Amino acid sequence: MSLPRPRFHLAPARNWMNDPNGLVFTGDRWHAFFQFNPEGNDWGNMSWGHASSADLLHWDEHPVALRHRPGEQIYSGSIVAGDDGTLSAFYTSAYDRGIQAQSRATSVDGGTTWTMDAANPVLDRGSSDFRDPKVVRVPGGGWLMLAVEAVERRVVFYASDDLSTWRETGSFGPLGSEGVVWECPDLVRLPVEGTTERVWVLLLSTNPVGDDADPAGSAMHYVVGDLVDGVFHSLDGDLRPLDHGRDCYAGVTFDSAPGGSAVMLAWMGNWRYAHVVPSSPWRGAMSSPRTLGLRRIDDALHLVQHPVLPPSGELDASSLRFEPHAVLDVRWDPAAAGSVRLRLEGEGDAVVEVVHDPAARTLSVSRTGRAADGLHPDFAGVRTAPLADPASGALTLVIDGPLLEVFTDDGLTVLSHLVTLGAGPITVSASAETSVVPTVRVGEVRVGATGDAAQEGPAAPAAA
Ligand code: FRU
Repeated sequence: MSLPRPRFHLAPARNWMNDPNGLVFTGDRWHAFFQFNPEGNDWGNMSWGHASSADLLHWDEHPVALRHRPGEQIYSGSIVAGDDGTLSAFYTSAYDRGIQAQSRATSVDGGTTWTMDAANPVLDRGSSDFRDPKVVRVPGGGWLMLAVEAVERRVVFYASDDLSTWRETGSFGPLGSEGVVWECPDLVRLPVEGTTERVWVLLLSTNPVGDDADPAGSAMHYVVGDLVDGVFHSLDGDLRPLDHGRDCYAGVTFDSAPGGSAVMLAWMGNWRYAHVVPSSPWRGAMSSPRTLGLRRIDDALHLVQHPVLPPSGELDASSLRFEPHAVLDVRWDPAAAGSVRLRLEGEGDAVVEVVHDPAARTLSVSRTGRAADGLHPDFAGVRTAPLADPASGALTLVIDGPLLEVFTDDGLTVLSHLVTLGAGPITVSASAETSVVPTVRVGEVRVGATGDAAQEGPAAPAAA
């Protein structure tokens, strides 16, 4: 089977995509740059692809922004908008000779054309695993760059007043599991719900490495803490899961988002099996854009994620059989229902089951069937997340071709999976432990996005 292309999530018309890079809002458009192979639909020739959107739902793909060069691939990084509108991109130069260092490019035309600094790399520690620079504006002035020493499981911090010279201020880590590399850090200052308080949160992705690598593969985490003298400190020494599914990685936030909000995009992929995901001529997609915040529960701060979804004008209410591009809103009486089960049936024998179990305080999502079994030995199966608020009585399912994102606990619990339900209609049935029947409202998404026309049209624009 070949997986259908998403319609309202960012995915390239053709070729390989992984991490979001250089997410920036320029006053009228959201620009997303991303790890991209201009020459094929597997990882390689890493460059920065480019797309932009007025609403985070309809994406237009643009020519390749930063192209790999002989001896140098362009790995992940970030963009910041200066006060004069100049965009500065910071990316990792991954040299064939085995060194990874940070480089800079600037754009004065809103991200269309880029000039690489003559002085590149601008930050070189002679390290082979120093990557993924994320530059953030610091309240009170100046900039901070975070990058990982991936194998040491450390985030290294640098400060700058002019985006040109960088001074190391310290590092964070290692902590959490061994046997992983740390990748794609971000630092965001998030509002605490119901207060005027903002608290620093570190976002971090980890990927298992080595012979006994954890088959669960890539995962995203967050750490709640504080920023002191240009270095992040954790409040509780804990890496907490950001998403409980298998396919949410390398998520970072947009620079200059309106109102200082933190809007994240993540790659919906997992290095464990990303290379064999059956889609063509494209491979790789982003999560829904998610606005991040914090909720205080029993004195601890927890991350909440609210997806940006198509407005109701772009949703067509439909039956319980629907095209695989839809938002499902499921509600029930938590006092009466007990556990709630949703069963999605797609092409062939493909089934996805979502079980909300308040007694066990768990949410689980399984993906089964021959297409899931055949994809990779570690693909099929079930993932379970702890529920923070078992009495919420609500689930949102976002389905866009092979992308499934499940939100519950009012944004506190999120589980994102690639699924193999196929391109045909999906049937959903809902049941509860008791005779209570959950209400399922299905909104089929009608937006075209960069969807089918681009897929059937000419090759995606690729700069010479
Ligand atoms: C994360 C990552 C980054 C790196 C990029 C290369 O998925 O491994 O650390 O910069 O992908 O494509």
